[in-house]
Amino acid sequence: MTKITAAISAVGKFVPEYILTNEELATMVDTNDEWITSRTGIKERRILKGEGKGTSFMAIKAAEDLLQKSKIDPKDIDLVLVATATPDMLVASTAAYTASQIGAVNAFSYDLQAACSSFLFGMSTAAKYIESGRYKKVLLIGADKMSSIIDYTDRATCIIFGDGAGAVLFEPNTDGLGLQDEYLRSDGVGREFLKIEAGGSILPTSEETLKNGQHFVHQEGKSVFKYAVSNMADVSEKMLTRNNLSKDDIDWLVPHQANNRIIEATANRVGLESEKVMVNIHKYGNTTSATLPLLIADYEKDLKKGNNLIFAAFGGGFTWGAIYLKWAYNS
Ligand SMILES: CC(C)(COP(=O)(O)OP(=O)(O)OC[C@H]1O[C@@H](n2cnc3c(N)ncnc32)[C@H](O)[C@@H]1OP(=O)(O)O)[C@@H](O)C(=O)NCCC(=O)NCCS
Repeated sequence: MTKITAAISAVGKFVPEYILTNEELATMVDTNDEWITSRTGIKERRILKGEGKGTSFMAIKAAEDLLQKSKIDPKDIDLVLVATATPDMLVASTAAYTASQIGAVNAFSYDLQAACSSFLFGMSTAAKYIESGRYKKVLLIGADKMSSIIDYTDRATCIIFGDGAGAVLFEPNTDGLGLQDEYLRSDGVGREFLKIEAGGSILPTSEETLKNGQHFVHQEGKSVFKYAVSNMADVSEKMLTRNNLSKDDIDWLVPHQANNRIIEATANRVGLESEKVMVNIHKYGNTTSATLPLLIADYEKDLKKGNNLIFAAFGGGFTWGAIYLKWAYNS
């Protein structure tokens, strides 16, 4: 029997209109463009404005972009996964709402949360449904409204994050293209370094938690940085050695956009020149679950059928990993 692999067959994206520049941030907290640019590589990020607009607003737009470009009938979609760390609401599934709004009326749907690795882990999940032969069209959306959980008086976090969404469709492939290998990891030690303390089951919302600002992202940047650098580089290198790939076999590194210095360290470890590294952190910042699909959408026109891509991500938890994927189409 021919082996079924899971290939990306279509891509879509959405970023909000409002641009929050380093210059504007410097009027809000004690920081400056030079510091932010040299320490992170970020120049600006997008912010979703408007009351009542949550993560699903962007997820729906990204999915609609994909549907419109690919001419796929949403009724043919079997499963909608929304990878996100900022769901519209607790309990009610953001994916279920998104699927209904885009007309994916025959799909089932659910959310997937692994902080900044949500989309990477979602790729693994989506691929399994396809490889098993059970489903034919799995829509994976990475979307985050990080501005809803960021304290804009905390200069250690507010300079980093932005809002956005990207979507990819996974379909069966019998030519050996699509997802080839994955190495996914996690370590609960990370909980101490990157978290939102309150609003979950350990520390439910109270007047006290609101007063203490415990509903915002708190991160010990230096520690997270160290773990991110070594782990993202380790798994990327492992993907190459495990698949007998040399650096010349790799066409693109698709790294989570948390900090340009982490991206460069990962690229250096696997010996990749900067022309082969996808980067858009300068214009979007860290959009958490949306960084990888936004990269794919931004670079789609440069991708060629058969290209070897290494995806790598690191996020809260900690969670991290790498995926080796062969690109399946020319645009
Ligand atoms: C957050 C991060 C950019 C900070 O960079 P850093 O080089 O580690 O900087 P530090 O936190 O050590 O701070 C260095 C100094 O700059 C100051 N500083 C922090 N934020 C600043 C800002 N926005 N503007 C100006 N100065 C700032 C600090 O107060 C500190 O000053 P001090 O030396 O007088 O105490 C970096 O640690 C990072 O990117 N970490 C990983 C983040 C990440 O990947 N998170 C998501 C995981 S998916």
